[in-house]
Amino acid sequence: MRQIIAGNWKMFGRLAGVTAYAEVIKAAPSHVSLLICPPFTLLDRFATALKGSGIALGAQDCHATPEGAHTGDIAAPMLAEAGATHVILGHSERRENHGETNAVVKAKAEAAQTAGLIPIICVGETDAQRDAGEAEHVVRTQLAHSLPANFAGIIAYEPVWAIGTGRTPTEADVTAMHTAIRAALAAQLGTTGQSINILYGGSVKPGNAASLLALPEVGGALVGGASLKAEDLLAIAAAAPHR
Ligand code: 13P
Repeated sequence: MRQIIAGNWKMFGRLAGVTAYAEVIKAAPSHVSLLICPPFTLLDRFATALKGSGIALGAQDCHATPEGAHTGDIAAPMLAEAGATHVILGHSERRENHGETNAVVKAKAEAAQTAGLIPIICVGETDAQRDAGEAEHVVRTQLAHSLPANFAGIIAYEPVWAIGTGRTPTEADVTAMHTAIRAALAAQLGTTGQSINILYGGSVKPGNAASLLALPEVGGALVGGASLKAEDLLAIAAAAPHR
């Protein structure tokens, strides 16, 4: 399975930096797929800068309906029109800061797929949940209730406690969780569940990328902070194994 290295810029980045960043990441190795998810305001500029490069473009959220009186929200067809092919949904920062439930994430994923976008659904446990031995149960519950029946997207396992902290789970813990996610996807989605990329996210850096990306059932990385530097994202992409 070709690995996907995705950069989640979160609420960082300005128009002035887009073209130079795009030029650098065009040097990415061809054995991985690259995906950049900048803020909405940079999508159109990125679409122009990345045209013909094979690097995909994603957004970080969408509304569950295709249009309507929803001040401040953004609809999936609008993202597609701006050049996005993917959309991150249910990131822990949205679950936490915007009260997004599994049901909301599922409705958004349905809207994304209807608009032709590939949803990247994020799951992951908190520190307290891991300490209580509930990590796999929490993630299985998120998968069971956040994925539409016809889900055809990407999963990102992002332990909340590993995001932006410099801490990562042990290799054994990542392997155990990704194996559990694969089993859940296969049970839930049948053969489709076998071919879904399961990304790892949470403090992925050039220094730890090779060991994380080499683990079984790790289908790529969802990179936050390190993706803001084009050279660091390239180094992470270069660290992906040739599978
Ligand atoms: P960091 O790579 O900054 O830990 O962020 C991970 C993340 O939340 C990506 O979606």
